[in-house]
Amino acid sequence: MAETRKPIVVVGSVTMDMVTCTPQIPRIGQTVIGTSFSTTPGGKGANQAVAAACLGYPVRFVGMVGDDIYGPQLMENLLRAGVDTSAMVAVPGSSGLAPIFLAENGQNAIVVVPGANGKVSSAYVDTHAEVIRNAGMVLCQLELPIATIDHTLTLCAQFGVPVMLDPAPAAVLSDSAWNRVTWFTPNETEAAFYLDNESDPEPIARKLLARGLRGVVLKRGAEGAYVAVAGGKAAWVQPFAVDAIDTVAAGDCFNGSCAVALLEGRDPWAAARFACAASAISVTRRGAQASMPTRDDLNAFMAHHGETI
Ligand code: RIB
Repeated sequence: MAETRKPIVVVGSVTMDMVTCTPQIPRIGQTVIGTSFSTTPGGKGANQAVAAACLGYPVRFVGMVGDDIYGPQLMENLLRAGVDTSAMVAVPGSSGLAPIFLAENGQNAIVVVPGANGKVSSAYVDTHAEVIRNAGMVLCQLELPIATIDHTLTLCAQFGVPVMLDPAPAAVLSDSAWNRVTWFTPNETEAAFYLDNESDPEPIARKLLARGLRGVVLKRGAEGAYVAVAGGKAAWVQPFAVDAIDTVAAGDCFNGSCAVALLEGRDPWAAARFACAASAISVTRRGAQASMPTRDDLNAFMAHHGETI
């Protein structure tokens, strides 16, 4: 049957994660003995794309890899998950790389070296303007040049396409960017960056919405999420309790699955609950893209918790 759903389009980063497992993340000046090392596909953009594709939603990716050994592996992994990579290109130089420390308690620390992601320009996005025009929703993060993200927000506003912006890693946005964003999804650290270390979700959501956003989803990890819409309701969404072994990309899993749930017509709180379930599954598995649940995984998990999706 012909696909009638408008795809999720991710304009974002794709990165090879270089994951060192360690009893604890080293402090400055400290050396620790690690337990294992692996390379595994990541990048916040690619992770969100894979999260949505694993749930069976059509996804297109606009971005770049390098012409190094990692570029083909990163593209291949997206294709295998069902992501349309026809708006991607390999450029001379290194792919995005991310050295990651993963501690035994599931916590992580990440350095992102942009490589090819840093070359994704506004002009390149313009060459795929039709892809954006035909999107059901565009997902962005802040691992591409900020000017490129700003330009993508402008295109989305022109075309009337909703945008979910994950401000990760947090960076200064132009004053005019805010009212071009439909859903803004900071975690606790990122929200504190924008609001002078405010930590209480109610004022955070209220102050962020006052900047012109249409909706705010505050991702709170094991505490769930706080969702507020402009001129409407604000409420907590409860989490699912699981034993986390790897929290890398849990936030990306949340965004990709929340976008799917919104496009499938769920209200924002039901969408966030759906996303809480998906990310709860992801933290019980190792890897970034490797940890994303399928629709069957999610159905089984929800049924186990006495809910349907
Ligand atoms: O959000 C997790 C991701 O952040 C990792 O996959 C890493 O690539 C960094 O971009």
